[in-house]
Amino acid sequence: MYQNVLDLHSYWAFGVLGLLLIAAINALSGLGSKRAFTPRDRQISMVALIFSHIQLVVGIILVIVNPQLEIAKVAGMGGVMKDPHLRLIFVEHPLINIIAITLITIGWSKHKKTAEDAKKFKSIGYMYAIALVLLLSRIPWGQWFS
Ligand code: HEM
Repeated sequence: MYQNVLDLHSYWAFGVLGLLLIAAINALSGLGSKRAFTPRDRQISMVALIFSHIQLVVGIILVIVNPQLEIAKVAGMGGVMKDPHLRLIFVEHPLINIIAITLITIGWSKHKKTAEDAKKFKSIGYMYAIALVLLLSRIPWGQWFS
């Protein structure tokens, strides 16, 4: 169970990061070129949003089924914070990524509330780009590619 969820989370991450990059670049280039916001722009941003939400659900399941959760429980909050690996996977990575996915959701919601094309591009472009930087800052890179 744990291994399957970890594999899914691990491969899905490529999709999330790739789609966020594409959506952010697409929105920022749309903003820069002052072009109209089209249904295709909406689709790209929506697919990135959906992928990130699915990753959030898979991530929560991964915490629940994680065998290292027992070690974390025994260590307690103080012990987890003193251990760089446990702190990364149970505190920093989930917390920062939930904040990032919240920003993606805010960017998406704000674009729907305005009729101005430039503002649509701005809310998606800025929010998705900030979220991407946050996600990249807390990926457990060492174990992802090992
Ligand atoms: C878009 C958001 C996210 C991305 C791109 C992402 C990406 C990743 C990646 C690449 C790994 C390493 C996988 C591996 O070792 O093969 C990982 C591990 C992990 N993620 Fe996420 N993650 C995201 C959100 C979350 C969230 C929201 C949670 C929890 C609420 C979470 C929980 C975990 C846990 C617990 C691990 C460590 C698993 C282990 O080593 O046993 N992730 N994540």
